[in-house]
Formats: sequence, C-alpha cells, structure tokens
Amino acid sequence: MSDGSAATKTSGLDDLLACGRDIEPLMDRILTERPLPSNLREAARYSLLGPGKRLRPALVLLSAQAVGGRSEDARSAAVALEMIHCFSLIHDDLPAMDDDDLRRGRPTLHRHAGEAMAILAGDLLNTLPFELLAGDPILSRRGLAASAVRELAAATAEMIAGQVYDTLPRFPEDMEPLDRLRLIHRHKTGALIRAACRLGAICADPETDGHRRAAKLEALTGYGEAIGLMFQIVDDLLDVTASTEDLGKSAGKDQAQGKLTYPGILGIEETRRHIEQQATSAIGFLAPLGDAGESLARLVEVLADRRR
Ligand code: IPE
Ligand code: IPE
Ligand code: MG
Ligand code: MG
Ligand code: MG
Repeated sequence: MSDGSAATKTSGLDDLLACGRDIEPLMDRILTERPLPSNLREAARYSLLGPGKRLRPALVLLSAQAVGGRSEDARSAAVALEMIHCFSLIHDDLPAMDDDDLRRGRPTLHRHAGEAMAILAGDLLNTLPFELLAGDPILSRRGLAASAVRELAAATAEMIAGQVYDTLPRFPEDMEPLDRLRLIHRHKTGALIRAACRLGAICADPETDGHRRAAKLEALTGYGEAIGLMFQIVDDLLDVTASTEDLGKSAGKDQAQGKLTYPGILGIEETRRHIEQQATSAIGFLAPLGDAGESLARLVEVLADRRR
C-alpha cells in the first residue's frame, strides 16, 4: 500500500492521492461479497469504481499518518468517505438537482442506468458506510466505532443541508452573498472533507495523552475546514476556466444554472486570491503536527493549482 509519507516539494496530485486509489480493491470486494440485486450491484460499482480522484480517502489516510497512526486502522473510514461522496455525486447529478449528463468522464449514473436506479444506488452508498464502520473489528476493539459513525453521520447531514442551500436556496434577508456562498460551500463540500481529516485522526491516532490527542484533532479540523472550502472554490473556478474534457464533467454549468459561485460574485482574479488565502490558512493549521504534516501541506499546494 502506498504510504504517502514520502511527499517531496515536487510530489504531484497523482503521487499524493495514490494511497486513496489503494482502497479500490477493498471497495470492489465489499460490493462483490454483499448480497445485492445484480443490477443494483452493477450501478453502485459503476459509480464507486469510476475514475474519481479519491481525494477523501487519501485525506483520511494521510491524516492517519500525520497523527503518527497506521493507515490500516483508517481504511474502513477511507472507504466509507468515498461511498458517501459517490452517493452525493449521484444525487447531485440527478435531473431534479444539477441535471448533469457527464461525471468522471462517463455518462452520469441516471443516464447509464435510469433515474430510479441512480436514486437507489445513491441510497445504498449512503447506508453501507455506516454498516462498515459499525462492524469494523479494529474500531470496535478500540471502542471507536460509535465515534466514527457519529462523525460521518453528522458530516453527511451537513452535506445534505448544503445541497439544499445550493439547490433550494433560502437565507436570512440580510445575509451578504459571500456569506451565503461560504455557508453553501462549507456544508455541501467542506463537511465531508473536514470529516475525512478528522476520521483519519479519530480512527488511527495512537496517542494516549488526551490533551495531545485533542490538539492534533483540532489541527486537522482547522485544516479540513480550510482545504474543504478551498476545494469548492477551485471547483467553482474550474467550472469557468477548464474544459469538459479535462474535468470529465460538463464545464460552464454553474452560470447556466444560476448558481452562486466565487467567480460569479468576485470575478476570476479575486477568486484566485481567496484560494490562496484558504491555502495559507490550511497550511498554518498543520503547525502542531510538525514534519508529519508535510504530505498534507503539499496536498494543499497541488489542490490549489489543480486542473481536474
Ligand atoms: C466533486 O468532487 C464534487 C465536489 C464536491 C466539488 P471531486 O472533484 O473530488 O470528484 P471526483 O471524486 O474526483 O470525481
Ligand atoms: C457538489 O457541488 C457538492 C456535492 C456533490 C455534495 P457541485 O455541484 O459544484 O459539484 P460538481 O461540479 O457537479 O462536481
Ligand atoms: Mg451541485
Ligand atoms: Mg453538480
Ligand atoms: Mg461544481
């Protein structure tokens, strides 16, 4: 398994996310071994094993390493996060939501397998992760399963709230557009990314001193919030500046659908400044982790400048 711990100043996005891709055989096995109607299994597999970046599992595993833990202890959490993420993508693409035809360079699941199956495969991928965490023998033995389930459930609920803010917006009258946007982004995208970082620490930190454990969790919470917001600001920017071919999803959709976005409110240059600001903030949060936070710091730099 790639341990991701050898980040250098020149590591690229693919190198840093290699550990996230290592969970693909495990995701495949979980779907293969579980009794499921064959068409539901195929739909879930189409989405889950499609060519995503695997950012969230990589964040879980790199965060586990950053607190001095073993990535094996956080593998179920890494899979769980990618499943919830895929559920969010499947439903995000539905006609009633963003109505997208392309995802990860292929037809969206509702285009490929029909709308009913897309809804149900999304439901499945919003259920299996909790079973996985609750039944994980390493987490159960260490008394951590309930905390892990709670963390993921709370973040999933926040993501869903974010999708409501994004799709059926209703805000207090006096809320500034930029504050509305931060509220949307922190929920729809930030919550799962923050949970990925926190779950790496929750599942794998070998620290027995409660204060030191809490300090590391706090560092990763701040990091996760900052990189999560940054990630969605870059997503907004790429929707304007990148091609459909590079993204593997339809570019230019946000403006066409009247979405509230960073470039829409601030323009491209100011959006880039906000990305830099969040990047600096994310790296700053890693200070208490010392050299162990190096891969996470490098990840911020490459994600700020990503093209896909
Ligand atoms: C897309 O996430 C949805 C957002 C929250 C912006 P990713 O850009 O991580 O999508 P995949 O997993 O690589 O397809
Ligand atoms: C995605 O936001 C948020 C979730 C899937 C929860 P977007 O709607 O901007 O994501 P893309 O651009 O379709 O990947
Ligand atoms: Mg959306
Ligand atoms: Mg979308
Ligand atoms: Mg987008």
